[in-house]
Amino acid sequence: MPDLLISRAAIADRVSAIASAMCRDIGGPVHCVAVLNGAFIFLADLMRACDGPVTCDFLAVASYGAGQRSSGEVRITKDLDQSIEDRDVVIVEDIVDTGRTLSFLLATLRARGPRSLRTACLLDKRSRREVDVHVDYVGFVIPDRFVVGYGMDFDSRFRNLPDISVLDG
Ligand code: IMP
Ligand code: MG
Repeated sequence: MPDLLISRAAIADRVSAIASAMCRDIGGPVHCVAVLNGAFIFLADLMRACDGPVTCDFLAVASYGAGQRSSGEVRITKDLDQSIEDRDVVIVEDIVDTGRTLSFLLATLRARGPRSLRTACLLDKRSRREVDVHVDYVGFVIPDRFVVGYGMDFDSRFRNLPDISVLDG
């Protein structure tokens, strides 16, 4: 079994702090754009921790030549259903690792004319960064270990675990 890294109680505290900061900063309807699949549980908790109006949409991306980590070029495999023009958008992502996925998404979504565009990432593997990308809301900075649980998988498994654990022991 994976080793515990971040407990469900610690996650809940940070998610609620992020929701408060995000809603306060935006001060109106928040439109969350979640990156499938890993961010779906973070999104669900983040939205339920918001006390103002909040909506969501989903997209999915793939990296060319990717194994467990993204490498090189990123492309959209499932696009948003709704326009983000003139909306206050927050990209909701599970992990920022090299930064390639998030920097691609920021450039792609910025071109669609949102009123504002922010980023919320539950986990930040800062030591792995290859592309300089700004993250507005970070849950936890973690070491360069492979993690699962709370939506994140290894080979499609472990997404259901309520805590975040390290798989590579
Ligand atoms: P980046 O483009 O290198 O920043 O890749 C970020 C993406 O890599 C995340 O959205 C995850 O899908 C994936 N990823 C990176 N590290 C992990 C991990 O430890 N567990 C699960 N997925 C990871
Ligand atoms: Mg991901």
